[in-house]
Amino acid sequence: MSSQSAPLSPSTLTERHYELLVQAVVDYAIFMLDPDGHIVSWNAGAQRIKGYEAGEVIGQHVSVFYTDEDRHSGKPRQLIERALHDGRAQDEGWRMRKDGTRFRALVVIDVIRDEAGMVIGLAKITRDITDRHEADMRYDALRAQLFQAQKLEALGQLSGGMAHDFNNLLTIILSAAKLASRANNPERLASLLASIQDAGERGAQLTRNLLTFARCEQMPRRLVDLNELLDAAYAFISQALPKTMKLQMRFAPGLYRVELDPGQLEMAVLNLVLNARDAMQGNGVVQLHAENRTLHGDIDGLHGEFVLISIIDHGTGIDPAIRARLFEPFFTTKDIGKGTGLGLSQVYGFARQVGGCVHVESVPGQGTTMILCLPMAGGESAVAGVRTC
Ligand SMILES: Nc1ncnc2c1ncn2[C@@H]1O[C@H](COP(=O)(O)OP(=O)(O)O)[C@@H](O)[C@H]1O
Ligand SMILES: [Mg+2]
Repeated sequence: MSSQSAPLSPSTLTERHYELLVQAVVDYAIFMLDPDGHIVSWNAGAQRIKGYEAGEVIGQHVSVFYTDEDRHSGKPRQLIERALHDGRAQDEGWRMRKDGTRFRALVVIDVIRDEAGMVIGLAKITRDITDRHEADMRYDALRAQLFQAQKLEALGQLSGGMAHDFNNLLTIILSAAKLASRANNPERLASLLASIQDAGERGAQLTRNLLTFARCEQMPRRLVDLNELLDAAYAFISQALPKTMKLQMRFAPGLYRVELDPGQLEMAVLNLVLNARDAMQGNGVVQLHAENRTLHGDIDGLHGEFVLISIIDHGTGIDPAIRARLFEPFFTTKDIGKGTGLGLSQVYGFARQVGGCVHVESVPGQGTTMILCLPMAGGESAVAGVRTC
């Protein structure tokens, strides 16, 4: 502006000033259209973003900036009609520069009326958001990749855990079948076949549990006689140990009845026995003791009547440094393929779900006792089960 011009103030603003303002904006393409969509004005921003000089586009139809696809689908006309009808239209999409390259545009079209309310044209403001759009796309792609990776990891871990559990059951089935093929005593044969059937049913139970878990359903519970259950589980659990190891079970008569899913309890005991086996490196005796006990907060703050099932080994013991992580899903100190880190997290989840706990006593180099505390059915200690998911 020349030195003779009056300084800007609300009272000295003229149409020319507004024109200069619009012209000075370079980050936005600001131009006007007649009601049919022909370009009637052009600013510096429009020239910068779209690459056309004013003389090249004034008089042309706005559809010149649209992609062939959008032109064929009638998008330019639809946007103008929407603006004329609603007073305003907005759009985000691809537009073409003069040199044929595409840019991502955020577009607002407003209707302009004269004092009498007659439509005299349309104001169109376009912003080039290509950079932001590309960053968003990269972010979305990264997020999708991460989600996929997490899903694959969880899936891998889950199938690893399942394979581990199925493998234990298959070991039982195969070794019992091998023994059965050589057995000539009918009683022995019947007992081995019963073990095979039992392990097969547990496999079916395992898949049922997994499906229940996947469907996010409450586990079925029933009143369980622990003396009966542990008696029946002996053959099944001892089959999981190598010949060089023994399972010694001792449980008091008249154990309290408990209300739980028996399949889950068997799996928890099996997981504890398998850990004892691994800790003892294939040699020695694993003890399983069960007794009724009144707790007064002495084990994990529990009060009331409980059945305590202890699995005792004289293995490596547990390093105090990893005690806090034992129940974390996927925490394992075993080699790849030997441990999934899912055993204790199943035991923990199950115990909490029935209102009990798992208590660890361990001396490095001497051995470990894992105590599963289960509340007596109907007792004050029994709390309502929680959903697992
Ligand atoms: N009886 C035990 N003696 C020594 N360490 C144990 C015992 N039980 C569990 N652990 C430790 O806890 C870890 C987690 O056990 P778990 O969740 O069953 O997973 P995994 O057996 O697949 O490693 C084991 O890797 C091991 O380091
Ligand atoms: Mg384990």
